[in-house]
Amino acid sequence: MTIAVTGATGPFGRHAVETLLERMPAGDVVAIVRNPEKATDLAGRGVDVRVASYDDRAALDKALVGVDTVLLVSGNEVGKRVQQHSNVIDAAKAAGASRVVYTSAPKATDTDLVLAPEHAATEEHLRSAGIGFTVVRNNWYTENYAARLDEWQGSGEIAAAAGAGRVASATRAELAEGAAIVAATEGHEGQVYEFGGDVAWDFEELAATASAVLGRAVAYRAVEPDALVSELVRSGLDQGTAGFVAALDANIASGALDVVTGDLSRVLGRPTSTLEDALRAARA
Ligand SMILES: NC(=O)c1ccc[n+]([C@@H]2O[C@H](COP(=O)([O-])OP(=O)(O)OC[C@H]3O[C@@H](n4cnc5c(N)ncnc54)[C@H](OP(=O)(O)O)[C@@H]3O)[C@@H](O)[C@H]2O)c1
Repeated sequence: MTIAVTGATGPFGRHAVETLLERMPAGDVVAIVRNPEKATDLAGRGVDVRVASYDDRAALDKALVGVDTVLLVSGNEVGKRVQQHSNVIDAAKAAGASRVVYTSAPKATDTDLVLAPEHAATEEHLRSAGIGFTVVRNNWYTENYAARLDEWQGSGEIAAAAGAGRVASATRAELAEGAAIVAATEGHEGQVYEFGGDVAWDFEELAATASAVLGRAVAYRAVEPDALVSELVRSGLDQGTAGFVAALDANIASGALDVVTGDLSRVLGRPTSTLEDALRAARA
């Protein structure tokens, strides 16, 4: 079986490719990349590197020839993604692939999450495309928070508009491993998985965990979304990005990421890592 991974030079795609390489010959793994210079290491290991942008349907048609299953890693160009993802899905169908595995967002079709509409539209396209599919709806990467440990070390506080909302985060590597296993194994056709950590944490727990990891007191300071926007703009962020960050926090406050299903740990065959272990690993 030949499996193609799109976005293969991004962090998620790279983790997914590594999982596949543990399970199948490198020559059966196709890495779809837009910049082959970023994939010379993969090509050197025998991975079949093929070049296609999500925007280039003709290149995608060529790149997916002979592929059985496509792991479509959602792109990062917000606003363009429905067309881009549809291009990949339609090219997979045209190439005769049997299934597309798509990385979506938590409860994509039934949520107020500001990022969800493009994912919901992609899921809709996938359902009507006439090709087998599996949807893996990824909760937040724990790395989104690990990346802020230095900032919290300096400030001693986590200012957020997340209220008492909970986040069932998992590491990017765990989520990518789960998606790759779903692509490489049978029994997932037509399934929609809510992938995330086994435990959802709130921001008080995040602050306590950051304190333990950093060895210094870090407190959660809950603020209202409007106040967060003002603070972020004062600290140099542009209005649009600040509004987006606050809107995501408001989504967390209303429970959009409090989605605990055990789907990911069932696919992995082990519990997901704890928040503390994941933050410590990222710190190391
Ligand atoms: N759950 C979460 O917390 C979370 C957080 C961030 C992102 N995400 C989503 O998860 C996806 C994967 O995560 P990541 O950390 O690997 O994201 P990332 O670092 O933003 O990487 C995105 C990947 O998509 C590729 N890509 C973007 N536009 C493309 C295009 N037009 N044609 C072909 N390839 C294109 C990029 O190619 P290059 O390598 O050439 O740049 C890169 O490989 C993201 O794209 C985003 O949709 C989820």
